[in-house]
Amino acid sequence: MCGIVGGVAERSITNILIEGLKRLEYRGYDSAGVALVGQGQILRERRVGKVVNLESAVTEAQILGSLGIAHTRWATHGKPTENNAHPHVSDQVAVVHNGIIENYQELKQDLIALGYHFSSETDSEVVAHLITEALKSGAPLLQAVEQIVPKLKGAFALGIVHSDYPDELIAVREGSPLVIGVGIGENFISSDQLALLPVTNRFMYLEEGDIALLTREKIEVFVQGQLVERPVKELDATVTNTSKGNYKHYMLKEIHEQPEAIQQTLSQALNGNALREDFLKDAVIDFNQIQQIQIIACGTSYHAGMIAKYWFEQLIDLPCQVEIASEFRYRSPVIVDRTLYICISQSGETADTLAALRDTQKRAAAKHLMISTLTICNVATSSMVRETNHHLLTLAGPEIGVASTKAFTTQLTALMLLVLKIGQVKQTLADSVLAEIAADLWHLPKVILAALQKDASILGLSELFVEKNHCLFLGRGTEFPIALEGALKLKEISYIHAEGYAAGELKHGPLALVDNDMPVVILAPKDDMLDKLKSNMEEVQARGGELFVFADENSGIQSQDRQHVVKIPSVSNWLAPIVYSIPVQLLSYHVAVLRGTDVDQPRNLAKSVTVE
Ligand code: F6R
Repeated sequence: MCGIVGGVAERSITNILIEGLKRLEYRGYDSAGVALVGQGQILRERRVGKVVNLESAVTEAQILGSLGIAHTRWATHGKPTENNAHPHVSDQVAVVHNGIIENYQELKQDLIALGYHFSSETDSEVVAHLITEALKSGAPLLQAVEQIVPKLKGAFALGIVHSDYPDELIAVREGSPLVIGVGIGENFISSDQLALLPVTNRFMYLEEGDIALLTREKIEVFVQGQLVERPVKELDATVTNTSKGNYKHYMLKEIHEQPEAIQQTLSQALNGNALREDFLKDAVIDFNQIQQIQIIACGTSYHAGMIAKYWFEQLIDLPCQVEIASEFRYRSPVIVDRTLYICISQSGETADTLAALRDTQKRAAAKHLMISTLTICNVATSSMVRETNHHLLTLAGPEIGVASTKAFTTQLTALMLLVLKIGQVKQTLADSVLAEIAADLWHLPKVILAALQKDASILGLSELFVEKNHCLFLGRGTEFPIALEGALKLKEISYIHAEGYAAGELKHGPLALVDNDMPVVILAPKDDMLDKLKSNMEEVQARGGELFVFADENSGIQSQDRQHVVKIPSVSNWLAPIVYSIPVQLLSYHVAVLRGTDVDQPRNLAKSVTVE
């Protein structure tokens, strides 16, 4: 949700900033801009649209500089226009901002009264003018920034340069992610380390409230004016593989990476058909005490949580609630003693989930309640991982496509591992069942590989969706959340309106939508609900609906007139939702490609939703 990159070096960093923005484009892609300090002035270019538009402008203008900041925007305040694009400049100061300044209207009125002119509709521009105003007292740049930050309310990350300070880059982290890339004789900042991988693999992770001063030679981090130490961490090569390879889109690459990603997730937890001794060992005391689970998440991660609810309750008899974070955080839910609060998040930075977590922690502490918190996450250095008692990494590798694929199936894998662990600790899961599921988990990457081989048949079916405007997805049990997830995938990348329903709900309303023009996707593993699902299919057919069925190869469901069947390899009931994620991902992908949408960066969306 907006991407920041900046740097201070000996060499010109124009190309580094542009390359960094391209790598951050998943965070926002409605406009982009860069400001470099050169010949004692701020040289700025901004363009509406993707980073390539900015790149052409910068190449044409030949702007060079060894100190600079750049930004790719996902509009919150003000339309995606050139004037609203960052960096925002006030006199000699240039600022890039990620997040939201909630009290900007008030600050803006005060600044207008002081004679400042605003050239954008953004909340961000106030920061540039506030710094200019603070500098009037004679304070040096760093001090001026330290003076104005307490005036800002909201969540934000800032990159700041000034044309009179050609060797100083200032970074502020207060609720939005920001990382420092440590180089040799040069240093960088970014919203995501991915942007800086071409220049360094050494990173310093800022904490909330940090203000950092970067020069070519040194990095100093301050908290309320006091110098603090932040360790430098080195990333290994496996984390740094972010190219598209031979795939046309990141999403397709990430779909095909799932067998390997799941293997990685499993390896940290399983030793043969048993759980490893060291797996979540620090959480054992907490797991022993908890009496229920509360999952908090958004979007696709919420769907993963919905599936885990079936597992927690049916497999290990542990009550589990699941709620969308944006609702949970504002409805003052009762915080119950001895609850394990689980945040599920690919990024670990999603604003609503993070706020729900913090609020829960605060309220539990105020009432002296014994709760524990755990994050399931793909980013080891994220805020959620840092702020929960325990974490379980999905180890999926970077996910660049905006539509979540491998992050989702590895979340499910991690959740199943967690269920096994808690069941073992609380002795509510028989050893034989644990061993059976562990064996099925080891086999899972192969089943996923076999499901991926259905690609050609799914591509064939996708042609029948291209002209459609609506679509229904139906499933029962753990396939109900997969129906929701299938509908989310299809709508977000192909822009076809899609709804997911529990198949049993069909006759309570959505059946009214079914006619000759309504494709209905059915998820039909061979489980106890199969016969009931077959009845639901007949209800659709009787109304002229066209069925697209992903069915277990032994389900007995065959293709017939207006019923297209893709046979999915057999899998244990517990793991079926992970396998049935594959055909819905492939279907959405192919439909989107055929409709010519921007698959990796669908309109109006951004990968990491770090603002409300
Ligand atoms: C959809 C998708 C989103 C995210 C949601 C939460 O494909 O990716 O719905 O799942 O924005 O993001 P994280 O998991 O980073 O908290």
